[in-house]
Amino acid sequence: MKDHLGREIDYMRISITDRCNLRCRYCMPEGAAKVSVREILSLEEAARLAACGAVLGIRKIKVTGGEPLVRLGCCDFVRMLKETPGIQEVTITTNGMLLEEYLDPLVQAGIDGINISLDTLDPELYAGLTGGGELGKVLKSIRRSADAGSERHFPVKINAVSLDMKEVAPQLGCGYGGGGWQELLQLAADYPVDVRFIEMMPIGWGKLYQAVDHRVLLDRLRRIHPKMEEDHRRHGNGPAVYYRIPGFQGSIGFISAVHGKFCGSCNRVRLTSEGYLKSCLCYEDGVDLKPILRGSLPEDEKEERLVEAMRQAVWNKPGAHCFENPEQMTEYGNMASIGG
Ligand code: 5AD
Ligand code: SF4
Repeated sequence: MKDHLGREIDYMRISITDRCNLRCRYCMPEGAAKVSVREILSLEEAARLAACGAVLGIRKIKVTGGEPLVRLGCCDFVRMLKETPGIQEVTITTNGMLLEEYLDPLVQAGIDGINISLDTLDPELYAGLTGGGELGKVLKSIRRSADAGSERHFPVKINAVSLDMKEVAPQLGCGYGGGGWQELLQLAADYPVDVRFIEMMPIGWGKLYQAVDHRVLLDRLRRIHPKMEEDHRRHGNGPAVYYRIPGFQGSIGFISAVHGKFCGSCNRVRLTSEGYLKSCLCYEDGVDLKPILRGSLPEDEKEERLVEAMRQAVWNKPGAHCFENPEQMTEYGNMASIGG
């Protein structure tokens, strides 16, 4: 459906847990807030809300967390979504630590794409930045996902938050010997995966980090690879701008939420693990669907109320974020409960 500004909203991110097996410094350095398990939607409840979204024209779903693979039944959830009438595409964002274990069940459930978060190829920096992540495990799951993706024709993307490692490494007690975006490019050379850089947004702990300006990064990239060309083949619905480097298997993408505002073409809403439908990352605007979902209305009436509440929230989606004026933000939660 369209929102009040005429933007077509067909994409919903669903966070199925705010817990995570890592502790990224800019996301949840102290772990998730202790929300009681009762407050978290069951996977059946989340799937029901996805079906209501489909009634309104949601066609694509991204399963997120926290780390979605720490939630038992995550792959069954993917299957439930795939069987939901109207839903055409189900993808997942994961930190990759458990992915090797769950890759086959995800593929069998019909996953349409896998995004793996990885900010550095330096094992020590990676462990420091993520509070104990094992780079070797993630790299193994990237390799295996790339193979599965080639065979089954689904895309695999690496999401890297752009960080100034010269600044970050000493904060983590690590030496600085590179470990930044230049090295990550190599993944797109070696494997058929897109490497996408994401500007840090001032949400939750992310406020403590300066967003690396992608215009600067792109200039440097052009100097290293003068033959690089903008990749016009895929101007899908997503906010990334892609480039191709001759000889590379995958493309390089830039998601520049802060310095390259793309709110005018935003196509998404977000469902938190507690059943709150958020219409913009930057504000608390949205609707709490859980009271309706768990209320005492007869089932068919409930369905109608849920769809109607979602329609309202989508319609009223704010026009643009205000990351450049953080004092106007009304989102005080952390990224792990919002789902990225
Ligand atoms: N800004 C941008 N991206 C963020 N992520 C977590 N916090 C932020 C932030 N403040 C990213 C993670 C992961 C995805 C789910 O969201 O690195 O790639
Ligand atoms: Fe976990 Fe992702 Fe947050 Fe890191 S960024 S702590 S992997 S949810």
